[in-house]
Amino acid sequence: MTEAPSKEIIPSGATTKPIVQVHDVSKIYRLREETVYALNKVSLTIYQGEYLSIMGPSGSGKSTLFNIVGALDNASEGYAQIGDIRLTHLTPRQLSHVRCNYIGYIFQAFNLIPSLTALRNVALPCIFMGVPPEEADKRAAEVLTQVGLGHRLDHTPGELSGGQQQRVAIARALINDPCIILADEPTANLDLQTGSDVIQILKNLSVERGVTIITATHDHKMLSQSDRVVRIREGQIEAIQNRDELEIEEGTIEFAH
Ligand SMILES: Nc1ncnc2c1ncn2[C@@H]1O[C@H](COP(=O)(O)OP(=O)(O)OP(=O)(O)O)[C@@H](O)[C@H]1O
Ligand SMILES: [Mg+2]
Repeated sequence: MTEAPSKEIIPSGATTKPIVQVHDVSKIYRLREETVYALNKVSLTIYQGEYLSIMGPSGSGKSTLFNIVGALDNASEGYAQIGDIRLTHLTPRQLSHVRCNYIGYIFQAFNLIPSLTALRNVALPCIFMGVPPEEADKRAAEVLTQVGLGHRLDHTPGELSGGQQQRVAIARALINDPCIILADEPTANLDLQTGSDVIQILKNLSVERGVTIITATHDHKMLSQSDRVVRIREGQIEAIQNRDELEIEEGTIEFAH
């Protein structure tokens, strides 16, 4: 691996094994006369099994960071690394291997295919991996049951509530047994209770199965399960706070002063 992580606090509960490393990453867009730094020299180490929340206002760079860590976009400068794999100079085939094997993605807008049933939406990443359809359906039914949707396998997204759709998206993210889940504002379209249920499912995955959860949010109320919170503003990390530094008040978290 590369150099040791810098003066960051390692959370209790999570392991001390780095799983994601972001090294001096910048993402620069050059538009006509303007240069936009969506990320500006961001460095961050994320540990296996931790639940990390990335918090920042709209436009601060959260999705950009997710896309780079998730091998969906390239950094302009610096690089991200998953385990020992540097996400630079990989062929499309290698990139797709990383995406399918190591990472599960959950998006704000669920991104389900409307014409497919819950079962088939969840089975799809497995089919992409070359698993025979019958086996893929069997695994899909198992993960849907794990997220409490065993009774809705044949419903299309339009026949499911928002919270149920997001659980289908979680099941889809889980089907290839990823070590990392990237959840970009997974509760933004959900009411508070349903959002809390989704967060609880993600938290259980980190505690019970050692899956590393990286989630972006605007909402302080969604931080209560986090081992650490990274605050990002204008493309830069403003602060990284360990659980102990957060004050919890009746299900909400306020930053300690
Ligand atoms: N393709 C692009 N071209 C130019 N600028 C872009 C492009 N994509 C993103 N940006 C800019 O980069 C910055 C970071 O965007 P990003 O989508 O990462 O923000 P975010 O923190 O996810 O915001 P939100 O909370 O609204 O989802 C924004 O200022 C945005 O306008
Ligand atoms: Mg975003």
